Amino acid sequence: MDTHKQLTIGLFGFGVVGEGLYKVLKQTPSLKASIKKVCIKHPGKKREAPAELFTTDRDAILNDPEINVVVEVINESDAAFEIVSRALKSGKSVVSASKKMIAEHLPELLELQKQTHASFLYESAACASIPVIRNLEEYYDNDLLHSIKAIVNGSTNFILTKMFEEKLGFQDALLLAQQLGFAESDPSLDVEGYDAANKWTFLLTHAYGITVETSDLVFSGIQHVQAGDAEVAREKHYDIKLVAQAKKLANGKVAAFVLPQFIRQDDHLAFVKNEFNGVVIESGFADKQFFYGKGAGSFPTASAVLSDLSALRYEYKYEY
Ligand code: HSE
Repeated sequence: MDTHKQLTIGLFGFGVVGEGLYKVLKQTPSLKASIKKVCIKHPGKKREAPAELFTTDRDAILNDPEINVVVEVINESDAAFEIVSRALKSGKSVVSASKKMIAEHLPELLELQKQTHASFLYESAACASIPVIRNLEEYYDNDLLHSIKAIVNGSTNFILTKMFEEKLGFQDALLLAQQLGFAESDPSLDVEGYDAANKWTFLLTHAYGITVETSDLVFSGIQHVQAGDAEVAREKHYDIKLVAQAKKLANGKVAAFVLPQFIRQDDHLAFVKNEFNGVVIESGFADKQFFYGKGAGSFPTASAVLSDLSALRYEYKYEY
């Protein structure tokens, strides 16, 4: 795809992220990217966009030769996989935010991309506004990456912040996270650690070049954390955070897990509150680096989709 080419987008999903992208693209005309059609599931819903933009027919996008990019931001993993594979097979580039689907199918989708002239990008699928995937992929040599410690789920971090700093009950904090559009439609994916573990699998791929399945990881969410736990932790100058961690061992293997942890209050990750995410990387020569930004929400997530759309202009691809 040359740098001057118009990106004609078929968008799947018009929820928090899809609608965010629609609004963001209206404010970024210099990108020369426009949405031609949006495929949605529930046509009756009131939406702030012209009715003729919407369809319930996947083929109206997938069979349209003028659409050269598919942006897929739906919530269902199986449907997302079908859409993404069909789009790649027909030579359309794909930008996806479906973390669960990516965790389940990354190797085959990267293989599919290799066979076509398309690109498959998913920066928005982990840590939303933090450009973590391309950084891990491009900046660090696998061998020099000693460890990564990160908060990769905005909802649980939001809930813990509200519980411990504003004394909100768990259910009220969760409800707020849902109302603000941070939580998954099935919030147990956030609360029980699945979302963080799913994201961690492909972040590990980009960090260390390894293939990991969610079931390979030891993980838990915040379902067992009690309001009183923070009192004890804070007296000793610790906070409780859901932390994803990976470390390169002396034998070359990578140890990785996602668990709630006590984090010292002077640790970089203790600075990460509410729906923010944070990533601390320790690597040879660079030493310690800290990346910080909003990890959930409409515009922060759309900003990462936007960065992928820009990257498509120079046919950026991940190859394994
Ligand atoms: N439910 C996810 C989170 C949304 O809270 O991090 C962003 O991936």
